[in-house]
Amino acid sequence: MGEETLSVRDNRTGEEVEIPISDGTIRATDLRQLGLMSYDPAFLNTASTRSGITYIDGDAGILRYRGYPIEQLAEHASFLETAWLLFEGELPTREQLDAWEEEVRVHTYVHTNVTQFLDGFRHDAHPMGMLLGAIAALSTFYPDAKEIGDAESRRLQRVRLIAKFPTIAAWVFRHSRGLPYVFPRNDLGYIGNFVNMTFEIGGQHEPNPVLQRALEILLVLHADHEQNASTNAVRGVGSTQVDPFSAVSAGVAALYGPLHGGANEQVLRMLDEIGDVKNVPAFIEGVKKHERLLMGFGHRVYKNYDPRAKLIKRVADDVFAQTGVDPKLEIALELERIALEDDYFVSRKLYPNVDFYSGIIYRAMGYPTDYFTVLFALGRLPGWLAQWEEMLSDSEQKIARPRQVYTGYGERDFVPLANR
Ligand code: CMC
Repeated sequence: MGEETLSVRDNRTGEEVEIPISDGTIRATDLRQLGLMSYDPAFLNTASTRSGITYIDGDAGILRYRGYPIEQLAEHASFLETAWLLFEGELPTREQLDAWEEEVRVHTYVHTNVTQFLDGFRHDAHPMGMLLGAIAALSTFYPDAKEIGDAESRRLQRVRLIAKFPTIAAWVFRHSRGLPYVFPRNDLGYIGNFVNMTFEIGGQHEPNPVLQRALEILLVLHADHEQNASTNAVRGVGSTQVDPFSAVSAGVAALYGPLHGGANEQVLRMLDEIGDVKNVPAFIEGVKKHERLLMGFGHRVYKNYDPRAKLIKRVADDVFAQTGVDPKLEIALELERIALEDDYFVSRKLYPNVDFYSGIIYRAMGYPTDYFTVLFALGRLPGWLAQWEEMLSDSEQKIARPRQVYTGYGERDFVPLANR
C-alpha cells in the first residue's frame, strides 16, 4: 500500500496538495502550503501531542495506563506503583518499588514556613485556592527546579512533588477545620500517612484499612487521563520552560473548575439541592430544558459509560459497608436510572463520569464537600508529571502558542480624549 494521503484542492486558486496521513491524523502545519490555518476552538478535533502514556477509547469505554487496563490496576496496583508505571513506562520490580516508596517517604516534610502562609488564608478559604497557592509557592523553596534541562533535577522535583503534595493537601484540610498541622510519619505508607495527617486528633487516629484501600483505588483511577484540561494546562504552562511546581499549580487551577475536577463538589451540591428522590423528575426536566447541567454526567471523550465510574460504584459498596449508606446515594441512583433511559441523555451519549459517585464516597470517608477536588488533584499529580516529562523530552514540542482568527477592527486613528 502506498503512502496514505489526503488530497486537498483549493477552489480559490485551483491549487492541489497531497497531505500525508499518519496515525489517522494530518498535520495542521501542512495546510500552510495553501496559506490556510486550521480553526478548532476547544480542541474538539485536534491532537496537541503524540503520547505513549494513556490510551482511551471513548466509544468502547476503555482506559489503559501504559497498556494496562484500568480495571487491573485498580484491583492490583498501589498508587505509588501506578505513579512509577506512568513515569517509567513499566511496572516496578519489588526492589524498584521499595526504593521508590522509601525515596518518597524521606521527602514528605515541607518547609515549616509553608504553615505560616497557609495560616494567612481566611478560615473559610476554598481548599483548592489554598492548594494551588501553596504548590506554586513551593517553587520558591526549590530554585534548582528551574533546571528543567537536567534529567536528574527533573526526577528530584518529581519525587518532591509526589512526596510533599499529600502533606500540603492534609494541611489545607487542617486549616479549614482550625486544627493544628500534623507532620508526616515515616512509619506509615503513602495513603496511611496522608489519612493520618488529615484526621489525627490528639495523637490518635484509628486507621481503617478498607477505607484506605478505597481511597487508594480512587487515586489510581484518577492518576492520568491523557490530554484533559488540567494536563493541557500543565503542558501548556510547562512548555514555557517554567519550573514544575509552577506548571503543576496551573494544573491545579484548571482542575478547580466545575466542568473539570470541580464537578465532584458540584455533584454533591446538586444532590443536596435535589434533597429527595421525589424531586428527581423535575430536576431532570430542568436539565433537558438546558436550564442547568446534570453534574457528573457527560465527557468530551467518553461516549459510553466512563470505565472509572463503573469501578467507583464498586468501591462505594465497600465503603458504605463500613460507614453506612449515605441517603444521597439513593438520589444519585435515581438520577442515573432516569437519565440512562431518557432520550435527551441517550441521544447525546451522556453517561455518568468519574465525578458522579466519587463525592458521595469522599463524604462517607469524612471529607467535606469543598475538599473533594483536592483529592482529585492528589490522584492526578502523577499524570501531570508524567505528561510534563514526556513533553520536555519530545523534540517536536515548542512553546504552546495557538494562532487566532482576528475578528476585530481594521486600523483606525486614535481619538483624543476631549473628542470622544
Ligand atoms: N447535563 C446536561 N446536558 C449536557 C451535559 C450535562 N452534564 N453534558 C453535556 N450536555 C449536553 C450539552 O448541553 C450539549 O447539548 P446540545 O447539543 O443540545 O447543545 C451536548 O450535551 C454536548 O455537550 P458539550 O458541552 O458539547 O460536550 P463537551 O465535550 O464540550 O463537554 C463536559 C464535556 C464534561 C464539559 C460536559 O459534559 C459537562 O459540562 N458535564 C458536566 C460537568 C462534569 O461532570 N464534568 C466532569 C467531567 S469528567 C472528569 C473531569 O474531567 O474532571
